[in-house]
Amino acid sequence: MILSLGSDHGGFPLKVEICGRLREEGHEVIDEGCPSPDAVDYPEIAFSVADDVVKGRADLGILICGTGIGMSNAASRVNGIVAALCTNSFMARMSRLHNDANVLCLGGRVVGDELAWDIVKTFIENAPLTDEKYIRRRGKVSSYTNEEA
Ligand code: RB5
Repeated sequence: MILSLGSDHGGFPLKVEICGRLREEGHEVIDEGCPSPDAVDYPEIAFSVADDVVKGRADLGILICGTGIGMSNAASRVNGIVAALCTNSFMARMSRLHNDANVLCLGGRVVGDELAWDIVKTFIENAPLTDEKYIRRRGKVSSYTNEEA
């Protein structure tokens, strides 16, 4: 699988850990930064990873900031992205099966390495949308707009 990963400084140590483990397992990893623990603005990283996913350069994305909140907010603004902030493996599984999530968001200051790794594995091992009702609901989310016609 090809995975696009990105973090800001708040998620940098966890991103390094997850990148290493994914590569050890034979996955191809696109590292969209940040390249060091120096402070960066998380939206720029979020949009790079989201772009990799919507343009088909990656199968799935993983974004890590301090809480995961900023990354999930930013990635969710990109058409075609369903970002899911997960703090446990049940959420990761449901985000694929029920919500069609294609970008996993983690809080590097919230979850430890082992829990994060379990969440990542669960996310990438589960197929999206296995039931018609979930597909219908996903369609309602993606087609909504509050802009004037
Ligand atoms: C950086 O200090 C922190 O604000 C950021 O990593 C993230 O948690 C934002 O949502």
